[in-house]
Amino acid sequence: MEKFVLKKPINHIAFIMDGNGRWAKKRLMPRTYGHKVACSRIIDIMRALRELNIKVCTLYAFSTENRNRPKDEISKLFEYLKEFFDENIKEFTLNKCRIQVMGDISALPLETQKTIKDAIEITKDFDDYVFNICLNYGGRQEIVRAAKLAFKDIKEGKIKEEDLNIDTFKNYLYSSGLPEVDLMIRTSGEKRLSNFLLYQLAYSEFIFTDTYWPDFTPEKLIECLKEYESRDRRFGAIKE
Ligand code: IPE
Ligand code: IPE
Ligand code: MG
Repeated sequence: MEKFVLKKPINHIAFIMDGNGRWAKKRLMPRTYGHKVACSRIIDIMRALRELNIKVCTLYAFSTENRNRPKDEISKLFEYLKEFFDENIKEFTLNKCRIQVMGDISALPLETQKTIKDAIEITKDFDDYVFNICLNYGGRQEIVRAAKLAFKDIKEGKIKEEDLNIDTFKNYLYSSGLPEVDLMIRTSGEKRLSNFLLYQLAYSEFIFTDTYWPDFTPEKLIECLKEYESRDRRFGAIKE
C-alpha cells in the first residue's frame, strides 16, 4: 500500500459495500461468489484503516430490505460472514479492535449469531479500534427504536423530556458513544443511502465510487481519502 498520511483526521469512516452481485455476474459467476470475495476485501480494508490511523469503521453488510432476497443468497452471505469472523477474530483481538453490531441479529442463522456474539464478547473491552457491522439494519428502524427507548426512559423518569435533544437522542441509537461519521463511501456506482445511518450521516462527506466492493482495494480507498481531503467542510458556517 502506498504510504499515505491523512492530513485531515477521520475519526469514523462508514462504507456501504455494494456491487458484489454485479462483480460476480461480470465474471459469469454466481452472485454468492461476489459475497465471498467481498468478505476478504473487508479485512484488507480494515488493515489499511489501521495503517491510516482511522480507528472507527462502520460497514453496511445486510439491510432490513435485503431480507427480500432469495433464501439461498441470504444463507450463503451469512455463512461467509461467519467464516469472516472465525478467520479474523485473532487479528481483531491482537489489534485490540472492538466488534460491535448495529441491527437486529436475532433473525440471523443461529451459527452466525453465535460466532458474532462470541466475537462481541471477546472484544468488548477493547478501545483501540472499533469495527461496527450493520446486520439486518435499517436506518429508519433504528430511529423508531431509539424514539421508543427514549420515550420509555421519559415515562420511567430516567430522563426529563426537556433534556432530550439532538445530542442526548444519540444515546439511544446503536452507534451510541461512537464519534461522528466523517466520511461515507458507497461502492458500485449507486448514489443513494438505501436506509443507511440516516441520523448519523447528517453532516458526513459522501463519496460514491463506481468500483464494485470486491475490487475496492486499499489503493482505491486512498483515492477516496484524497478526494475527502480536498473537501471543504463548513458545517453551515462561513470560512474566510
Ligand atoms: C452488496 O452487494 C452486498 C449486500 C447488499 C448484501 P449486492 O449483493 O447488493 O450486489 P449488487 O448491487 O447486486 O451488484
Ligand atoms: C444496500 O445495498 C445494503 C447493503 C449494502 C448492505 P443494496 O444493494 O441492498 O441497495 P439497493 O437495493 O441498491 O438500494
Ligand atoms: Mg446492491
